[in-house]
Amino acid sequence: MTPIKIIYDTDPGVDDAMALYFALAHPGLDVVGITTTFGNVTVEQAAANALYLSALAGYAHIPVAKGVAAPLVKPSEAPPDFIHGRDGLGNQPIRHAVPSRALDPRSGAQFIVDMARAHPGEITLVAVGPLGNVCAALRLEPTLPQLLREVVIMGGTVAEPGNVSPVAEANIWNDPHAAEQVFAAGFQLTMVGLDVTHRVVTELSLFDAMARHHQHPAIDTLRHAVAFYADFYTGVHASIQRKGCFAHDLLAFVYVVAPQLFETERGVVRVAVDGIANGQTMMNRRAHIQYPQMGWAEGRPATTVCMRVDAPACLALFEATMMDKAWLKPVVGQVDSVGVASRQDAAVAPPHRHSSV
Ligand code: BDR
Ligand code: CA
Repeated sequence: MTPIKIIYDTDPGVDDAMALYFALAHPGLDVVGITTTFGNVTVEQAAANALYLSALAGYAHIPVAKGVAAPLVKPSEAPPDFIHGRDGLGNQPIRHAVPSRALDPRSGAQFIVDMARAHPGEITLVAVGPLGNVCAALRLEPTLPQLLREVVIMGGTVAEPGNVSPVAEANIWNDPHAAEQVFAAGFQLTMVGLDVTHRVVTELSLFDAMARHHQHPAIDTLRHAVAFYADFYTGVHASIQRKGCFAHDLLAFVYVVAPQLFETERGVVRVAVDGIANGQTMMNRRAHIQYPQMGWAEGRPATTVCMRVDAPACLALFEATMMDKAWLKPVVGQVDSVGVASRQDAAVAPPHRHSSV
């Protein structure tokens, strides 16, 4: 089977890193580009992390384009360094030497548009940060919903409480105006939100086992990042008793390769863009009721929303995919030239702390 072409729009971010490595490891996916956004870190740090993580795993050929630095309308907020670390990767003690390379000169939005035009109907856009790049791409190319195969977002929540307010999920909260435009645009759109991501806990012990198995700096880096992230999550949620975390962004890719693991509902989704409910994703789950208020009665496109998930099957798929020896490549190169936090926080180590695969 031909692998699905993926553009990964991301704000790495620990769970973003986990998701990236799953996407690189899965034979059914072909990551043809990465676009970055502010969110868990600044957009500069997000771009540096995307370059670093991909190169460290041996995928320095994947283009990385830097995207939006701030929300469309609301003021920017400081990145949540207490969750993802100052560097977005759990404050890495060292950065390994990786092939030096430049960012793609295009904006994230222009990159998405160019790729969609070059491969009409073939590209799945997996967006796991605030949705400013998707929104900007729509402005550049209003027919983008017809050019992309599918858009899968990690963001939002319907029945599960929010993670930044009682009703709002972080990615939507970070740019509610952009999200509102994306839900209204007419994409073949699936929302993978907290309704399912709060059901799947990845334990640190799994990443320990992966690090032992692979003996590769990319997995050591991921393991360190997850340990930091797990410190934030463990004990805060009743479902996380042993050291572990939610793997939010990973589930967007699991949906792409194994949609049968999810139960979905379809309905119109709208986003609250101010007030006490700011960032809430409201889904009309009663399509037969003609709600008369403006916005519900206008024939907006529906979104597929993931409501339930087979968590053990997701974890088994993640583990089996990551444990494959074939996907990680040896890294040979010079020092990364754009590592923002690699300069501030971490020394750069020579390649291969272990003998590599
Ligand atoms: C989402 O917010 C970010 O912190 C994570 O990377 C994920 O995309 C979870 O709410
Ligand atoms: Ca993210």
